[in-house]
Amino acid sequence: MNELKNKILALKKERNAFIMAHYYQSLEVQEIADAVGDSFALAKQAQNASQEIIIVCGVRFMAESAKILNPEKTVYQSNQGAGCPMADMITPEEVLELRGKYPEAAVVCYVNSSAAVKAVCDICCTSSSAEKVVRSLPNKQIVFVPDRNLGSYIAKMVPEKEVILFDGCCPIHDAVSEEDALKIIAENPGVKLLVHPECRVEVLAHADYIGSTAGILDYARKSDDKAFIIGTESGICEILSHELPEKAFLPLKSGFICADMKKTTLQDVLDCLEGKSAPVELPERERNAARASLERMVSVG
Ligand code: 13P
Ligand code: SF4
Repeated sequence: MNELKNKILALKKERNAFIMAHYYQSLEVQEIADAVGDSFALAKQAQNASQEIIIVCGVRFMAESAKILNPEKTVYQSNQGAGCPMADMITPEEVLELRGKYPEAAVVCYVNSSAAVKAVCDICCTSSSAEKVVRSLPNKQIVFVPDRNLGSYIAKMVPEKEVILFDGCCPIHDAVSEEDALKIIAENPGVKLLVHPECRVEVLAHADYIGSTAGILDYARKSDDKAFIIGTESGICEILSHELPEKAFLPLKSGFICADMKKTTLQDVLDCLEGKSAPVELPERERNAARASLERMVSVG
């Protein structure tokens, strides 16, 4: 394993490549990355990268975002079989239908969506920027796609807006029920529950903190508490347990795993560096339209 790691590190330098990994990636993949972050941080990193080659260890929409923001660079998705089931729940045609139905509305699209969907939306958001993005818009009516759970949470946080939801979700976060939350809270009295807003509203109702993967990590790192219930993908428990062995991190539900995020291996990364994988390509018109939506999000901050 070390041999593979050393080969990657040497080749990364030689080829002037920048490797980005999402927090849900395995720890060994995170270890060889130049930047590890939530979706918003990765989009920002991609925008600022000076290297000629960008390798994204994450799901398809993350690699597409890096390519959209860096059309002139060679961008690889380390494992091209890694998709996001939520992103596959909505098509550009469905967005256009909503546009026709709500002509006064701004269409906000969660970054967990395809480039083709981003291209027909007004602005993108991530879980850490969604509230700020929605507040920044002059429109009273907001069409929010595709995540109904994040959209419902934002509707609650910004009650002055009328938020129209699309019926999509993350199958992994949406699988957590209120009963799951009540059970683990009852078994661990006093232990704080930190939850990602892709979970259902009835689960969020019991949370002590709601935020993105970066927000949850930050909360757990700064808190003096000695134990936490983690309401998001298992990668966050893994990072925290590794970094803070004196604290306990309990998964909200067993098997809280995004199989797509776990597809990336070190061999995949090496294949990209050795030029054995095909880079991400997107049609120019789609890329330009999607870029406007993504850049608006980054500029809102
Ligand atoms: P973050 O933006 O919080 O990293 O979330 C990305 C994601 O896919 C969560 O399921
Ligand atoms: Fe998509 Fe859910 Fe996996 Fe995040 S955890 S990448 S939303 S399927």
